[in-house]
Amino acid sequence: MMSSSLSDSEDQASSAKACFHYIPSKTDTDQLAHHSYPESSFYVIKNTQQSSPFHSSATTSISRTGNARTLFTVIPSMPQGPTTKTNASQQRLLIKGGRVVNDDASTLADVYIEDGIIKQLGLNLVVPNGTKTVDATGKLVMPGGIDTHTHFELPFMGTRSVDDFLTGTQAAVAGGTTTILDFVIPSKEQSLLEAYAQWRERADAKVCCDYGLHAAITTWNEQVAKDMEVLTKEKGINSFKVFMAYKGVFMLQDDEIFQVFAKCRELGGIAMVHAENGSVITELEKEMAQLGITGPEGHLLSRPEQLEAEATNRAITIAEQTRCPLYVVHVMSKTAADKVTAARLKGQVVFGEPIAASLGTDGSQYFNRCWRHAAAHVMSPPLRDDAVTGPYLMDLLANGSLSATGTDHCTFNANQKALGKDDFRKIPNGVNGVEDRLAVIWTKGVETGKLDVNQFVAVTSANAARIFNIYPRKGRIAVGSDGDCIIWDREAKKTISASTHHQACDFNIFEGMECRGLPVVTIVAGKVVYENGQLNTVQGSGKYLETTCFAEYVYQKLYKREELRDQHYKERKIEREPYTGEVVDITKPFAANNQKDQPTQSSGEPNAASAGFHNRPATRSGGRNLLDSSFTLSGDQWDDRNQRKSTRVQQPPGGQSKGLW
Ligand code: URP
Ligand code: ZN
Ligand code: ZN
Repeated sequence: MMSSSLSDSEDQASSAKACFHYIPSKTDTDQLAHHSYPESSFYVIKNTQQSSPFHSSATTSISRTGNARTLFTVIPSMPQGPTTKTNASQQRLLIKGGRVVNDDASTLADVYIEDGIIKQLGLNLVVPNGTKTVDATGKLVMPGGIDTHTHFELPFMGTRSVDDFLTGTQAAVAGGTTTILDFVIPSKEQSLLEAYAQWRERADAKVCCDYGLHAAITTWNEQVAKDMEVLTKEKGINSFKVFMAYKGVFMLQDDEIFQVFAKCRELGGIAMVHAENGSVITELEKEMAQLGITGPEGHLLSRPEQLEAEATNRAITIAEQTRCPLYVVHVMSKTAADKVTAARLKGQVVFGEPIAASLGTDGSQYFNRCWRHAAAHVMSPPLRDDAVTGPYLMDLLANGSLSATGTDHCTFNANQKALGKDDFRKIPNGVNGVEDRLAVIWTKGVETGKLDVNQFVAVTSANAARIFNIYPRKGRIAVGSDGDCIIWDREAKKTISASTHHQACDFNIFEGMECRGLPVVTIVAGKVVYENGQLNTVQGSGKYLETTCFAEYVYQKLYKREELRDQHYKERKIEREPYTGEVVDITKPFAANNQKDQPTQSSGEPNAASAGFHNRPATRSGGRNLLDSSFTLSGDQWDDRNQRKSTRVQQPPGGQSKGLW
């Protein structure tokens, strides 16, 4: 059985790869604005920076979190947390000579970033002396990637995922991702709010780029509903994930999912779902055990594609009934993707998220003769055992049926995967992806002619930013947006390998994949954090990103659909005279209620009226009124209860038979 219990102090197998991170001194107030402080520990003294229309919603969050980068200079009364010693010129960056690519257009333009925000965009910009310049001639300048789905240092299945918020975000920026969205997943004994605080504590101290949080709802009661309210209104979380799998651990039943979705809709959030039929999986896992299949292939064989498609459809159905927008995480199969596509074709507000793994590799790996190799690919839902699923999902990304991409980055080393060496059910579920997502999507999507560069931006950052309501602060290169950019060289090549990646894990599911098209420079909040294959990150320099509810991109259409649906219901309401007759008294025996229904026919006959037959009065001689029908549409006959005699007819018309007539 899976377990999510792991104490905070438990050892982690993670180790940071060679890089240039450091914990700086705490004295430089110039940079203190880049870090989070408890509300009580700071006060705003003046508005020194140009206000941005994109940061209007962030203004309120600033007052709650102390995330002051955007509008205010903040002097903390008690400096806490890591700070960086920098001079002013390091906060000014000009990206020169590149082609700026957004999801809707591309243009030759320089980008000037100051204090973490894009301040100018265009040619022949006038910038202050001493501004650092990065040459992007001949390259593309795109918004940094947004990974919608990570699990850094997640306690799961008796162990903890090996990439933490430091190595995870370092690997992210090395691969061109500048924002990650992780999941708060409470353990059995934890409240949602406690888990949220724990995730913040873990992440704030380590992240090298901005991050946001989704919350998983793993149990349902009134307190959870209240906590959801607090998370949306006070803690900046607008997305809630339910699990239809992991029976006995995280899985919710349909009625509970209905309640979560309804609450989520009330709060203006977006529901997320891990869609697999957990109950049937548990039964199929037992069948595998009976067949003596204990290796990683049993993981795939006990989780057939139909179970993903069925659960996806069920989640979509429940979302429609609760009028809640839905985001289906890790879409791993063609048939599940088809369910999302069908719902979108009907206009339902549903989004599907394929991941780097489902786009870049496949489930044939589970049949590899090397146990470690096969186990490294164990994740749920599993990779599918065909070579066409990946290209199929990519086609759906290209035509807009699927919307955003994540990785479900949740890594375990060989010795952790080995927890399931004799039983695939105990192999910790999870694979890597945070570092390679962009390169994999470019190689499998753009280089194959399925995606153009604008679509590449749409599916790697802009769509996610819209869905989770952080657009255009993230996911766009525009004046006022955060200075999170990548410089992309479409000619650059590399072969992915665990021996060179920045992730803490000892295996890479894309090992040996030749990628063409790579990020050569990554810029986070106007600072170059990755260049020439070298990281230059600052631990804890990333910010917590509050995501607010009622995202326009998600809710605009939903309001209208809701309004029309209510109108439709009202129109169908029938005005009737109230029923004034008798009501059955269910406290009395059945016969007592039905006295008046007793037949008037001769005794022994069934109560024809109550059985659905006509009940004309008997004839004067007491016989059955022949105007009555003797049968119902169901085929019953009025005298069915009377034993009928059967007669063997020796010489029936039409020839002899042994049958009964
Ligand atoms: O196998 C997976 N996907 N591991 C992470 C937990 C989850 O289901 O997202
Ligand atoms: Zn999941
Ligand atoms: Zn996940």
